[in-house]
Amino acid sequence: MADFVGAVDQGTTSTRFMIFDHGGNEVGRHQLEHSQILPQAGWVEHNPVEIWERTTSVIRTAMNALGLEASDLAALGITNQRETSVVWNRRTGRPYYNAIVWQDTRTDQIASALDRDGRGDVIRRKAGLPPATYFSAGKVQWILDHVDGVREAAERGDALFGNTDTWLLWNLTGGTQGGVHITDVTNASRTMLMDLETLDWDDELLSFFGIPRAMLPEIRPSSDPGKYGVTQAFGPLGGEVPITADLGDQQAATVGQVCFAPGEAKNTYGTGNFMLLNTGTDIVRSNNGLLTTVAYKFGTEPAVYALEGSIAVTGSAVQWLRDQLGIISGAAQSEALARQVDDNGGVYFVPAFSGLFAPYWRSDARGAIVGLSRYNTNAHVARATLEAICYQSRDVAEAMAQDSGVTLDVLKVDGGVTANSLCMQLQADILGVPVSRPVVSETTALGAAYAAGLAVGFWKSADELRENWHEDQRWEPTWTEERRADGYAKWKKAVSRTLDWVD
Ligand code: G3P
Repeated sequence: MADFVGAVDQGTTSTRFMIFDHGGNEVGRHQLEHSQILPQAGWVEHNPVEIWERTTSVIRTAMNALGLEASDLAALGITNQRETSVVWNRRTGRPYYNAIVWQDTRTDQIASALDRDGRGDVIRRKAGLPPATYFSAGKVQWILDHVDGVREAAERGDALFGNTDTWLLWNLTGGTQGGVHITDVTNASRTMLMDLETLDWDDELLSFFGIPRAMLPEIRPSSDPGKYGVTQAFGPLGGEVPITADLGDQQAATVGQVCFAPGEAKNTYGTGNFMLLNTGTDIVRSNNGLLTTVAYKFGTEPAVYALEGSIAVTGSAVQWLRDQLGIISGAAQSEALARQVDDNGGVYFVPAFSGLFAPYWRSDARGAIVGLSRYNTNAHVARATLEAICYQSRDVAEAMAQDSGVTLDVLKVDGGVTANSLCMQLQADILGVPVSRPVVSETTALGAAYAAGLAVGFWKSADELRENWHEDQRWEPTWTEERRADGYAKWKKAVSRTLDWVD
């Protein structure tokens, strides 16, 4: 058997290709950013062709750097930014419109109408999701309603919908020359179109958005011994590799963190934060603003579900300090600036740039910095930004405890922001539980590789994967209970100031 497994991680800001060995160690990678297209306030788009080109480049560069060929890879997994929606023509391979990104809020009228006539409750019950601009269905409806000829093409079966996993799978397996049109249960569970119990597209949900079934991909397990397809000799790998895994990035990180038992949770710190709690084969409905989602489905085994707390703006708030306020020159500098002060100086920053996601789901919220006095400096704002990342995660952890009865004894973390040691210390202090980061912090790509490797017998079982997980660093809480309670009360007050801002 080949020595390695490859994983494509198509994220919100960049695409990377990573190669892992049997010990779950990274042996190579390459990563490229793509353009963030912001045509007007609240709109966020990506160019799908640029994403495909970046994908081919990162695969070629990483493989060439190691002198590897397709035959060195036992399998390939795909993981992706979820919800972001692409509609393309199956005959030409060309997108009808840019990908509409998960952060995009142009569909707020579509989303808010769902709760006025009872459709919202059907979506909550069947799909496990609150009606929101975040999910795919409204984005697809918008393209069908606004781009000439797409609806007719969709009804004929010529216009295909997919999230970026499906778009890359189709291209990697041949595109117009026989590409497969497939997604997995985790991605499908983010559309508002899949029934969590049947794991199939639901006609009633499709009718709410006027989406023809003919444009939807086939839904398959996240790790599939029956493989979705093989890469093509004319593609970036230059040969045939079975593609055997497809998972949304947060679900992939859950697998990469080996959260295979009910009650195990992880929190990923990227553009946004996403905390997922494994609830086993039970579909747990949230009463506290969390999503019910599919965590993974391995082959013919039953699907495993999760409760998820999705936070739209965390790492991107640090980018905002850099790009819009110009008070830091790079993300890493946020730590040094925030360390110049011992506390937040009374400043709280609620970065509700896309409204507030979990547990509030308030699209009418907008960001606020409160508690300012003349004494405050950039350092307090930087510290309040890091604290906002942690307070938002506490909001989600509280909701999880209420929904599931599970209180965390340790929080497993991963993602880019976990390199910020002060932020991780603040997270332990604000939550009051230890925070633990694994040696391989690229858990998203690792999880996709694990799911792909399990399907072909490269790894035999979840237990074998657990052996690969090793702690790199742990942060213990240091704040008094009084300081923790006072800070959280002020955070909640600050959140209340951001609501009802947009009509
Ligand atoms: O739901 C959106 C999420 O999948 C995006 O993750 O890491 O690409 O920002 P990321």
